Amino acid sequence: MRHIRLGVNIDHVATVRNARGVAYPDPVRAALIAIAAGADGITAHLREDRRHIRDADIVALKARLTKPLNFEMAATDEMLKIALEIKPHAVCLVPEKRTEITTEGGLDVIGGHNHLRPFIARLREAGIRVSLFIDPEQKQLDMARALGAPVVELHTGAYAEHPDDLGQLQRLITSAAHSKVLGLECHAGHGLTKTNVGPIAAIPEVIELNIGHFLIGEAILVGLSKAIADMRAAIDRGAVSLSPV
Ligand code: PXP
Repeated sequence: MRHIRLGVNIDHVATVRNARGVAYPDPVRAALIAIAAGADGITAHLREDRRHIRDADIVALKARLTKPLNFEMAATDEMLKIALEIKPHAVCLVPEKRTEITTEGGLDVIGGHNHLRPFIARLREAGIRVSLFIDPEQKQLDMARALGAPVVELHTGAYAEHPDDLGQLQRLITSAAHSKVLGLECHAGHGLTKTNVGPIAAIPEVIELNIGHFLIGEAILVGLSKAIADMRAAIDRGAVSLSPV
């Protein structure tokens, strides 16, 4: 069986932390648990508005991870400066809109090619693997190749929303095959769940999947019993103490 790399996106651990303005849950701790559980890498998206991952998280992740850090970012000067300082294993360039809830579509590498060409070159010169998060369209793949990016990540969001629409799956299958013809490494992600991941994992050219929201949501449900049992034990230990101090 071939091993498809799993990149775990820990953004939403930071979303929960930030909802309270305290230090927990810690995304670095989540990343280390993910690695211990078999993740092949960790993905984190530093957004312009810092709504989840913050600059200090990226620094801590780079310092403490034992597996590759895939730094997701928009192609802005601010993010380029941070990436060149941190030097993550990989940068995945994504489009970013302030008002979106999540990355809604792929990066338009055709419309943005003048800006992206030198941007990608700067990252590559620093030894950072660059991947472009694009919609599964042949012309976007062709431009990704022309821009010198070695990797594409195919946006699986439309497929995830309509898993029974064979047209959406076929677009991904065709694009993955085309990426191989172009010599591009093919990754995929967005909206993947335990239920819809199978057909994507069956695409032979896909070598890495990046998954976040479902995993963090599932972790809450799967982990809640143990968290409650641990709290029960802590309360009970307190209750049998002789005095509060
Ligand atoms: N890949 C990229 C480039 C993304 O922007 C995201 C979402 O942040 C993901 C993968 C993971 O998507 P999801 O959280 O829906 O699994």
